[in-house]
Amino acid sequence: MDELLQKMMAGDGIKVTSPLLPPLDEFTAMLEDIWSRRWITNNGTYHQQLEAALAEYLKVPYVSLFTNGTLPLITALQALHISGEVITTPYSFVATTHALWWNGIKPVFVDVDERTGCLDPERIEAAITPQTSAIMPVHVYGCPCDVDAIQAIADRHGLRVIYDAAHAFGVEKDGQSILLAGDVATLSFHATKVFNTVEGGAMVMHDAETKRQIDYLKNFGFAGETEVVMPGINSKMDEVRSAYGLLNLRYVDASIEARRRIAFTYREKLRGVQGITFWEDQPGVRHNYGYFPIFVRAEEYGMSRDELYLRMQRCGIYGRRYFYPLISTFAPYRSLESAATQNLPVATRLADEVICLPIHHELTAAEVEKVVECIRR
Ligand SMILES: Cc1ncc(COP(=O)(O)O)c(C=O)c1O
Repeated sequence: MDELLQKMMAGDGIKVTSPLLPPLDEFTAMLEDIWSRRWITNNGTYHQQLEAALAEYLKVPYVSLFTNGTLPLITALQALHISGEVITTPYSFVATTHALWWNGIKPVFVDVDERTGCLDPERIEAAITPQTSAIMPVHVYGCPCDVDAIQAIADRHGLRVIYDAAHAFGVEKDGQSILLAGDVATLSFHATKVFNTVEGGAMVMHDAETKRQIDYLKNFGFAGETEVVMPGINSKMDEVRSAYGLLNLRYVDASIEARRRIAFTYREKLRGVQGITFWEDQPGVRHNYGYFPIFVRAEEYGMSRDELYLRMQRCGIYGRRYFYPLISTFAPYRSLESAATQNLPVATRLADEVICLPIHHELTAAEVEKVVECIRR
């Protein structure tokens, strides 16, 4: 285990995030209920309740729970029969591109928009070839992509759109869930996310038939006791994590509100620090404040991103360089033509300048002040 991870797990210092944990007594009562009924997985009652509760909370028609946020991506590509090439972003967590690789699909990296960190629609069309079958954008840090522009391109070229919305829990634009964009959207409920089920994830879809197919696919393809209708996988969420999720859903709004206050404090106190930039809220968007990325311009700030990152660690502050290095620089992908640095100047710059500051529901005002002081000094 690396030294940084050891320090963070030892509980020292100010961490980038802290998991939202439901009250133990409430969870224990649910565990007692699960124990008494002895139904611990396979579409149990808590699983069904969590799917319904999430659909209502997220304002979407259908939700299918998964065991993490990677498998719904892999499964979506299977279900929609995506093949050939898929246009995607290099500025994300590596699972986005791995999901393509696991389906034998060639990722084609396209640069991002410096105002959002998301796939730049203006650069997508130039990357479309006769082999392109879909676009897989990411609402990175929960900042919505330009979903209208992306859909218009997809419609013009007959492409499917699969959103990796791992960071976009509860994000809305003009009162509508951002998860409604595209053919399907996927979520991660990993411990580090705004809403977590320890490990977990989900897919959001528009129609009952797609949900039925996805529910078969995540359960080995079983359509009944003796009938297998497709080569499925096992990606079911169990009753214990479904119950945990139902409880966390009661507390997630308070957690988002705490994060929102911290984001506004960071902005207020860091505005005007030369060489440090950050994004403002997008108009009409309900953000979830899952991340607070700042970008360090070495020449103006007088110190490189990595120097600041290490200085923060010396102050006991563990920011993270999400998303550095770019996915396109990792060994499995770096030889792709689209992975060339000159094809991805904006993403390369963001990855070289970014530090995500600590932000979570338990961060105290004194801790926020300490982070600010360390950066302003
Ligand atoms: C953008 C993105 N996509 C996919 C994933 C994969 O989710 P999980 O870790 O739940 O498998 C993550 C997770 O951290 C992510 O940040």
